[in-house]
Amino acid sequence: MADALKVGIAGLGTVGASLVRIIQTRANELTVTCGRAIEITAVTARDRNRDRGIDISRATWFDSPEKLAAEADIDVFVELMGGAEGAAADSVRAALTRGLHVVTANKALLAASGVELAGIAEEKGALLNFEAAVAGGIPVIKALRESLTGNTVSRVYGIMNGTCNYILTRMEKEGLSFADCLKEAQRLGYAEADPAFDIEGNDTAHKLAILTTLAFGTEIAADEIYLEGITNISIEDIHAAADLGYRIKLLGVAQQTDSGIEQRVHPTMVPHDSVIAQVDGVTNAVAIESDILGELLMVGPGAGGDATASAVLGDIADIAKSRPGAQRVPVLGTPAAALAPYKRARMQSHEGGYFIRLTVADRTGVFASIAARMAENAISLESIVQRAKPDAGDTAKTIILVTHATTEDSVRKAVDAIKQESYLVGEPQVIRIERPKAF
Ligand SMILES: NC(=O)c1ccc[n+]([C@@H]2O[C@H](COP(=O)([O-])OP(=O)(O)OC[C@H]3O[C@@H](n4cnc5c(N)ncnc54)[C@H](OP(=O)(O)O)[C@@H]3O)[C@@H](O)[C@H]2O)c1
Repeated sequence: MADALKVGIAGLGTVGASLVRIIQTRANELTVTCGRAIEITAVTARDRNRDRGIDISRATWFDSPEKLAAEADIDVFVELMGGAEGAAADSVRAALTRGLHVVTANKALLAASGVELAGIAEEKGALLNFEAAVAGGIPVIKALRESLTGNTVSRVYGIMNGTCNYILTRMEKEGLSFADCLKEAQRLGYAEADPAFDIEGNDTAHKLAILTTLAFGTEIAADEIYLEGITNISIEDIHAAADLGYRIKLLGVAQQTDSGIEQRVHPTMVPHDSVIAQVDGVTNAVAIESDILGELLMVGPGAGGDATASAVLGDIADIAKSRPGAQRVPVLGTPAAALAPYKRARMQSHEGGYFIRLTVADRTGVFASIAARMAENAISLESIVQRAKPDAGDTAKTIILVTHATTEDSVRKAVDAIKQESYLVGEPQVIRIERPKAF
């Protein structure tokens, strides 16, 4: 039997501690499937004295991740600390430069420096695996990087942030406000004390940027993403969406268009009977549309210690089974040096259906005026409905429009024109509609 694979782990928090536990409890099975043992020989975290409920007595403790990456007698460096810069970036760079294989769950690091790190790995003949960085336990990286080779991908999209999906699901099911659902998510440990990164869409954007590169063979462009979080979604929007046969999800969408690639993260209405609309709570889903396969949809646990550690372990097992000197799968699906420059499609050119909710003074002529503003911008309407606004007595009404496919530019112009009208009360709400192809 081949020598044991020696693993060094930097970060023993939620994911790191789960990984240690799983590797230790499944040692015999792993040895059989990988053809060699997997041994944790070096570890580090910030606090050496914390009780983590795991046995790390046989591993050498290092006082810093950089030192572990540079000096430990290991084959694989596993980075489970997080952060785009600092210790995570420095130690991963050091490990790859030494020719060590690296496994990481760190989407922030990959979104910021993925191409550079892939370049170092490829130059050194090392593997850089990151299945856990996008949609936790769902094997979407492997699907795009390996299984769909030869397919031309036209669109990849998904629900990739459990916190947002939990909040939107609770709002819909319990009729609670955004603020109440956020508080509950924090109490249950689904949302961070500072939830901005999740609810403003940044976390989804990091994951989307990685998927875009794998799907379209372009350089990572995490700063070129149109971003809207879920903080403006009200219970009124959720009820209106339900009445119209939709549910609201925070989607990350990357799509090839004639003018470039569209990358966008925003609240999205999806048809109620689509599979992705049924993905509730902290569960994630990723859909890939491609020419040979058609539509692939993967649904599963997007976070949590064990689910994420499962993906990390799969990456380690791939390394254990790989042969030294063998041809490596390019880190980002395409060799780092051959990735095409990213060409951004203008958001103004985005085409799709839109939901527009307006609060208006209850006067005659308002309906006709709104319809006229739409017509002036060549927007054709699928439906326009007027409803009483319960909290406004007789003074204001809600008008809800659903458009046929149109452009972002037309919708913004029409809404800007309506904003000039004296009958408008408050800010209009605009939510894009996305239609899955097959499911
Ligand atoms: N949790 C999830 O569900 C999930 C899902 C997908 C991906 N991820 C990714 O997995 C990674 C780890 O997440 P996590 O939830 O396990 O985080 P976590 O619970 O906060 O654990 C982070 C660990 O890293 C250690 N650490 C942080 N900075 C360090 C430094 N400068 N030097 C040494 N050790 C340091 C911490 O040490 P102490 O324990 O001593 O403080 C802790 O053990 C992140 O990149 C995250 O984005 C997490």
